[in-house]
Amino acid sequence: MKRIKISTVLKEATIGQELLVKGWVRAFRSNRFIQLNDGSTINNLQAVVEFENFNEEVLKKISIGASVGLTGKIVESQGAGQRIELQVSAIEIIGKADADDVQKTVMQPKRHSLEFLREQAHLRFRTNVFGAVFRIRHAVSFAIHQFFNDKGFYYLHTPIITGSDAEGAGEMFHVTNFDLDNIPKDKEGKIDFSEDFFGKAVNLTVSGQLEAELGALALGQVYTFGPTFRAENSHTSRHLAEFWMVEPEVAFNDIHDNMDLAEDMLKYICDYVMKNCADDLAFLNEREKTEQASKPANERNELGLIERLQFVTTNDFKRMTYTEAVDVLMNSSHYKKKKFKYDVNWGTDLQSEHERYLVEKEFKRPVIITDYPASFKAFYMRANDNCEPGKETVAAMDILFPGIGEMVGGSQREERYDVLKQKCADFGVNEEEIWWYLESRKFGTVPHAGFGLGFERMVMFVTGMSNIRDVIPFPRTPGSAEF
Ligand code: 4AD
Ligand code: MG
Repeated sequence: MKRIKISTVLKEATIGQELLVKGWVRAFRSNRFIQLNDGSTINNLQAVVEFENFNEEVLKKISIGASVGLTGKIVESQGAGQRIELQVSAIEIIGKADADDVQKTVMQPKRHSLEFLREQAHLRFRTNVFGAVFRIRHAVSFAIHQFFNDKGFYYLHTPIITGSDAEGAGEMFHVTNFDLDNIPKDKEGKIDFSEDFFGKAVNLTVSGQLEAELGALALGQVYTFGPTFRAENSHTSRHLAEFWMVEPEVAFNDIHDNMDLAEDMLKYICDYVMKNCADDLAFLNEREKTEQASKPANERNELGLIERLQFVTTNDFKRMTYTEAVDVLMNSSHYKKKKFKYDVNWGTDLQSEHERYLVEKEFKRPVIITDYPASFKAFYMRANDNCEPGKETVAAMDILFPGIGEMVGGSQREERYDVLKQKCADFGVNEEEIWWYLESRKFGTVPHAGFGLGFERMVMFVTGMSNIRDVIPFPRTPGSAEF
């Protein structure tokens, strides 16, 4: 008999139907009721075993965590909680799980802390929370491809090993084939990368943007969706050393088109998850409610998880310039009462406490901040025309989300060859390393714009998980690369 997935059984099976299901035992009560899960849905199939009909040796092996194949007939469920159940006629034990060992793991059916679950990232997929999170993570990634494909974008695979530092922050992991105990040095005692695998120093990419721009300047509209790596020593709940980024890039778009595209995409993703992940979302919504109830009233979310997604899809994002944002912050009672840890003044970057204040207290919605000072934004961002001397800004945009902070960072790009060349000099970007990028401005240059979405931060938002380590299967953070 061919196996049927539990999601299909629960949706479509008819009373009296004979079928085979396979999965992992989540619970086995009274030597009679098996809760079986196969990952196709958060919901278990209840299977009823008449123990008189089976040999004791087989029954003993049905334990939490074990994998089994169950053949039987679908009947109306006698108990509350499910419409149908499986009356088991044959049991195949596929893989045993020792009950004493299971006791020590996250499979033991009780509430575990997320920290404990993280230590068992190899097994946490077996829990309801992580089943839900990773099914939704898949849906978000699928939604992103759908969104861009529908708009006629091309998915461009940009390199993971690269010689350039797109963001200019110097936070790169080196890639080398050298024998680390015997690294070739040149006459001056410096490392001789000409002897290395690629004949030059290379690193893991921090962004696919520069290469995506080259694609956009011929294909019109492209996007990347790949892993990016940052060797920044940030121990926060929002930073990973390895994360996935989505980077669209569009020829002829200006900063306003760029904001429209990003807002549309973010709304599309929220909408897609509400429409396609209803069971998992409902589970996470309830989970968050329980978690919130144990918090002091002033730390609770004003809206529930599903309400937050609805809010995003039905409300315009607030758009304002950096200069306006600084004004709002400096005029806030929070600022006047000296409640910010970091000072606010024109010319320094906003700290996450400032961003969160704007999003969570002042506007209570996603906020797009544009036109930041040129001094602390990347070299490739387009210089705004007609700036007051000393107050030069660039056509940058950051999208800030409640509970997350920066979700998207992007800009219109500097398309003018001479201005870009000067920016490279000002920012100490080595022209020899990105000669190809500069050259793209020599042959039919056009205004263009793009942005980067932190994929895991989006998954955090739509699942309500508050630590980024809990939305990527195997997180890489400073000091930690287990599994
Ligand atoms: O703002 P960032 O650094 O922008 C870029 O890399 C541009 N090249 C994007 C572009 O214009 N094509 O990063 C983009 C987004 C951030 O807004 C944030 O959501 C996420 O990537 N991000 C991180 N996510 C997890 N861990 C980290 N360490 C992250 N650093 C950035
Ligand atoms: Mg940024």
